Amino acid sequence: MTAKIEFDGKQYELPVTVGTENEHGIDISTLRSASGGLITLDRGYKNTGSCESAITFLDGEQGILRYRGYSIEELAENASFLEVAYLLIFGELPSQEKLDKFHQDIKDESNVDEEMKKILDGFPRSAHPMGVVSSLTSALVAFNPSSVDVSSEEDMYKSIVKLLAKFPVLCAWALRKRTGQPLDYGDSSLGYVENILKMMFKKANEDYKINPVVASALNKLLILHADHEQNCSASTVRIVGSSHAGLFVSISAGINALWGPLHGGANQAVIEMLEGIKADGGDTKKYMGKAKDKEDPFRLMGFGHRVYKNFDPRAKIIKKSADDVLGDLGIEDPVLDIAKGLEKEALEDDYFVKRKLYPNVDFYSGIIYRALGIPTEMFTVMFALGRLPGWIAQWREMRLKKEPIGRPRQIYVGENHRPYAEISNR
Ligand code: SDX
Repeated sequence: MTAKIEFDGKQYELPVTVGTENEHGIDISTLRSASGGLITLDRGYKNTGSCESAITFLDGEQGILRYRGYSIEELAENASFLEVAYLLIFGELPSQEKLDKFHQDIKDESNVDEEMKKILDGFPRSAHPMGVVSSLTSALVAFNPSSVDVSSEEDMYKSIVKLLAKFPVLCAWALRKRTGQPLDYGDSSLGYVENILKMMFKKANEDYKINPVVASALNKLLILHADHEQNCSASTVRIVGSSHAGLFVSISAGINALWGPLHGGANQAVIEMLEGIKADGGDTKKYMGKAKDKEDPFRLMGFGHRVYKNFDPRAKIIKKSADDVLGDLGIEDPVLDIAKGLEKEALEDDYFVKRKLYPNVDFYSGIIYRALGIPTEMFTVMFALGRLPGWIAQWREMRLKKEPIGRPRQIYVGENHRPYAEISNR
């Protein structure tokens, strides 16, 4: 199958790649050389594929999301987060034996060098946890130098289990630094998700009792955030990794990309928005008006998506889970009612309907995080904890396929050639 481009009286025939879900992509790899300089331009890469990937499939029009062919609904309902991490990274659901070995290899690497605490000490307590976590993730290289430019699958596996083991410790440290709690290394007798909860919330002078409702809710949230094909942060991980900069720093770059309020930082922005609406008397109609006013910078955070032009399937699951978790924990949260009111109004409002703006993964997640006792500034760190296996899977696929270094072209629109002007003549 091919596509033809006609330009300046000449025709160029280009191959079309067809994916396993019948997506079609015009392969323009030869366009510039065949045409003597013609390139394509696509701001924000809204119409441009960066790679062929076998990790995650999503259909934005149908609201479908699958990890390695398994539906997000089934995985969220039946799997453990570690199982899903294994599935995303290695491509298959693990047997019990493989899962146990994977978990044990992670446990064996869960120690973080004591010297890393000196880096953490350098941050003010007010530092945003995303900046702390991205810095500490980069710093891991200094203590694990063999994990930099790895190319063999064996070396990649070692780096991967190191990061899956140490990253949750760093995230818990970032929280405990803010709350003035002593740092903790967790408990290898616990499951991966239960250990995260204990590292985050164990009080120095008390045992920590795992609440199964909380553990189950966090397990589901981490699964729902685990991958999302070529989103902004995954693309960042790929392009940084394509220079062979190494796994830890590629992931650190992805953490920074996720921090933005247009991306993963939206879950914090949603709660701040809902709190603001509550403080302003709960007048959702006023804020709907602001969201539609082009002169007003206010946006309905947690709404809209580059790819989903239907309901984000994750938002549906999280919304139901929010009701379940708050009910199980006996929590009344007025911002949940405000969120539901905004959603109802938006789904009936022509501005949102015409632009196919629906709640996305970030719209309800913060309400659950808050019910689990997680502070607002940590919400995007929780997103990163969930997205870590997806980033790793994308990085590993890119390196194993020996993808070339990412280096987009541009169309220059600046000054034409001009002679140097002496300063006396400027
Ligand atoms: C994530 O890519 C991924 O997969 C990301 C993610 C993942 O799992 O990795 O799903 C996670 O990042 C989810 C998105 C979280 N961000 C937010 O909730 C921030 C609020 N949403 C928007 O800023 C926006 O919808 C984006 C950034 C999510 C998508 O932006 P696009 O695709 O660039 O679309 P756009 O900004 O060009 O908007 C199209 C139109 C515009 O109006 P017109 O110019 O056509 O009149 O829709 C409007 C926008 O003004 N619009 C909104 C809006 N989102 C889009 N108007 C009001 N409120 C909003 N939230």
